Amino acid sequence: MGNKAYETPNMSLAGSVVVITGASRGIGRGVAEILAKTGATVAVTARRMEDAENVAGEIQDAGARAVGYALDVRDVQSIDPTFRRIETDLGRVDVLVNNAGIGNNHDAVNVTESDWDEIMDVNLKGLFFCCQAAGRLMLARGYGRIVNISSQAGIVGIERHAVYSASKGGVNLLTKVLALEWGGRGVTVNAIAPTFIYTPGTADRLDQPEFRQSVLSRIPVGHFGTEQDVAAAIMYLASPAASLVTGTVIPIDGGWTAQ
Ligand SMILES: NC(=O)c1ccc[n+]([C@@H]2O[C@H](COP(=O)([O-])OP(=O)(O)OC[C@H]3O[C@@H](n4cnc5c(N)ncnc54)[C@H](OP(=O)(O)O)[C@@H]3O)[C@@H](O)[C@H]2O)c1
Repeated sequence: MGNKAYETPNMSLAGSVVVITGASRGIGRGVAEILAKTGATVAVTARRMEDAENVAGEIQDAGARAVGYALDVRDVQSIDPTFRRIETDLGRVDVLVNNAGIGNNHDAVNVTESDWDEIMDVNLKGLFFCCQAAGRLMLARGYGRIVNISSQAGIVGIERHAVYSASKGGVNLLTKVLALEWGGRGVTVNAIAPTFIYTPGTADRLDQPEFRQSVLSRIPVGHFGTEQDVAAAIMYLASPAASLVTGTVIPIDGGWTAQ
């Protein structure tokens, strides 16, 4: 041991207030459960109040803290008031996990205007206004952590993902701009870029043997990701210890984008 006394990095979210969008199922729900288990109070937001309350209720039944809120991120006018209400109810907003997202596969030649708008409204426009609403509260307090759930498809091209890739590429650059604007005021903004995770959103496609095989052949570690893998990265980026990390896009992709 040297003469210098090092403090153990604070990777704890215990006592933090965490807002998660799209937490009715899949990654959002998994992350809500995992972060609540670590001692965070989780604002579980979902399009339908019933879903939000169900997930929050299950977390409470397991002895952790969660409250359900209705939030459809396409309804931009409702976003700011919802975040302010969460702050009033729970005392503050320390962490935002922008998880709500949708994806459909289209051949680019067949993409319609409504396909484009549908994906962009949720994945990019909705995400931006959630960053803005949370950012306003966080900047006023001088502390905050925003983690945007992007995708490997925002880093490399994946065929039949034109609109989805464009939305996630937009998330990655938006993350960097917000990091620049807010970095000096205690608020970090990062993105994580998972490979395929088996969720209700991907099950249909991953259950097709040919598609499954083609995906696995492009993941060097040889398996899909899990909600746990995503939560682990969020836990670091959302923690006080990650104060020097901002404007990054961290692949959680088993090596997909290393190729
Ligand atoms: N699974 C993967 O392989 C993978 C890989 C990379 C990145 N991602 C990203 O990870 C995130 C979650 O994906 P997932 O696989 O868990 O998807 P999922 O199982 O389809 O769940 C998507 C979630 O987003 C919610 N949502 C959809 N539209 C919404 C809206 N307008 N407002 C609020 N919430 C909305 C859904 O709520 P409802 O129940 O109300 O529809 C649901 O809770 C997405 O951003 C996705 O792009 C996923």
